[in-house]
Amino acid sequence: MLTPLLSPDATVLDFGCGPGFLAREIDARVREVIALDVSRGTLACARALNPGPSYVLSPGPGLPVGDGRIDFVYSVAVFQHLDPVDWPAYFREFRRVLRPGGSGLCHFAISDEQPAAYRKPRGLRGCYSLRFEESTTEAVVDSLTEAGFADVVVTAMTDVGGIDDDVGRQHMVTFRRAPAA
Ligand SMILES: C[S@@+](CC[C@H](N)C(=O)[O-])C[C@H]1O[C@@H](n2cnc3c(N)ncnc32)[C@H](O)[C@@H]1O
Repeated sequence: MLTPLLSPDATVLDFGCGPGFLAREIDARVREVIALDVSRGTLACARALNPGPSYVLSPGPGLPVGDGRIDFVYSVAVFQHLDPVDWPAYFREFRRVLRPGGSGLCHFAISDEQPAAYRKPRGLRGCYSLRFEESTTEAVVDSLTEAGFADVVVTAMTDVGGIDDDVGRQHMVTFRRAPAA
């Protein structure tokens, strides 16, 4: 899904890289991957397991990346685990770090009929369970559009990769920062 969107001279940002398996694959196809995560432990695993990308701690919405430095940003299996109230701050940051004309792809869990809401379990499970929340197409498109992105396109994963499982029924959303006038 990502390969057609990459070019060999691109500087790419992976937001929420986890242990870096995808970042390493992408790193082999572009000039540079800057891979961000909020977790020091995860980044330590990524550096050991998947060397190549530049792994950088990113503790909050202010991304540790210069203005206009990125050609392409992607994020897989992250936004469905964040509170949608926090999305706009991250999307504004994506826009800031993308060069004019740069683009991005984010993975979302979308259900326009009955979006699954997050219910935090009690007790120990509540401490360690991963938050998961589905969104609507409208919420995702509005949030990216309000952050200043154009060409926001929502595609079911299964239409791209022929994946027929729970991930296949989720979505990827591409967007673009308008080129300089
Ligand atoms: C389910 S994992 C996905 C990892 C990787 N993208 C993949 O597909 O294998 C979600 C990752 O997002 C990271 N994460 C969660 N909130 C974040 C935030 N606000 N900023 C950066 N990373 C974040 C987590 O630490 C975790 O490594």
